[in-house]
Amino acid sequence: MKNKTVVVGIGGGIAAYKTCELVRLLVKEKASVHVVMTSAAKEFVTPLTLQTLSMNPIHTDLFDITQEQKIGHITLADKADIVVIAPATADLMAKAAHGLANDLLTNILLATRAKVLFCPSMNVNMWNHKATQANVKRLQELGYQIMEPDSGELACGYEGKGRLCEPEAILKKILSLG
Ligand SMILES: Cc1cc2nc3c(=O)[nH]c(=O)nc-3n(C[C@H](O)[C@H](O)[C@H](O)COP(=O)(O)O)c2cc1C
Repeated sequence: MKNKTVVVGIGGGIAAYKTCELVRLLVKEKASVHVVMTSAAKEFVTPLTLQTLSMNPIHTDLFDITQEQKIGHITLADKADIVVIAPATADLMAKAAHGLANDLLTNILLATRAKVLFCPSMNVNMWNHKATQANVKRLQELGYQIMEPDSGELACGYEGKGRLCEPEAILKKILSLG
């Protein structure tokens, strides 16, 4: 992935810890990795962890006066070869499906012309909910790639579909998208 810029967007889901490994794998592949965390994502993993792994500053705030000196959200959107959202929460997918742009990550999603891969992860009932399924369909219609979650034991104690795909599988998908 030499000379490729990957913007990794992290939503507020328990599987955010797996994204740390994904970032490490992307760096190993020599990608330039820029991590954007939602406010909820920071409740699950620290910006310091991701900054250390990605070897780049972390982007969190749309209204950050220093990051916005060069209109940071547009710069990131423009320089991305691919945007990967992992974990893509139900909330984040609902926002993206409707074109909302009320934080840094959703602004980047609207501004970028790069390929976007959503890697959802949530409780099985949240995944199966008609609203989530309608949002997934809408995202596909909008041209986004969706990597459907794995089935198995979930962090919430349930069994079923909702596990974030393994970081190695996500890397493979990113490589296949070019
Ligand atoms: C402990 C805990 C775990 C959560 N895990 C998930 C999850 O795996 N998937 C999800 O869609 N929402 C999950 N949520 C709910 C989200 O954090 C919440 O909807 C949040 O608003 C999502 O913000 P975002 O749009 O920044 O991702 C969890 C909440 C808590 C308190």
